[in-house]
Amino acid sequence: MGFAIAEAAAKRGAKVTLVSGPVNLNTPDGVSRINVESAQNMYDTVMDEAANHTIFVACAAVADFRPAEVASQKMKKKDGKDDMHIELVKNPDIVASVAAMTDDRPFTVGFAAETQDVEQYARRKLEKKNLDLICANDVSVQGQGFNSDQNSLHLFWPKGDKAIPLASKQEIGDRLVSEIHTLYCGN
Ligand code: C5P
Repeated sequence: MGFAIAEAAAKRGAKVTLVSGPVNLNTPDGVSRINVESAQNMYDTVMDEAANHTIFVACAAVADFRPAEVASQKMKKKDGKDDMHIELVKNPDIVASVAAMTDDRPFTVGFAAETQDVEQYARRKLEKKNLDLICANDVSVQGQGFNSDQNSLHLFWPKGDKAIPLASKQEIGDRLVSEIHTLYCGN
């Protein structure tokens, strides 16, 4: 979705920076791309860039936790030990951190992948993370969202909502950029 949104925004003349994890996708024309490898790396990059942009769209499925320690050598099996425990620590919440900026805060758009009670959970996230708009994805429906070229979204913002029905991710990206533009201009 991130690549489709970046492409749709660039086609309308926006100056777009795409912060991307390791994916096998071509950078859309006119988009400047920064590659990152970890959630922390994405957080650092986004926090450096955010104040220079008027709109921030967070659609990466960021890992909530990361290993507390990263081994520099192969971790060997130990005789007689049949289990292994890896301590995890929480990653920073990137979209909530951008939404909490006090200076030059961009209009902040988040995503919510849900499997049930989509509106309730999405609205809760909108409020908790102090977002301007949230794009809810029902990932329990086959053939859309993760690992699919198609998607449908339900947008929620403090004073309204709108459904974007099933379509290619390109088309969804285009529709979403239109909705963001309307809401941003109405601010
Ligand atoms: O809380 P949850 O992970 O369901 O929220 C999803 C939204 O939060 C998405 O916009 C996702 O990109 C963003 N997110 C983030 N940083 C994290 C985890 C999620 O920006 N560490």
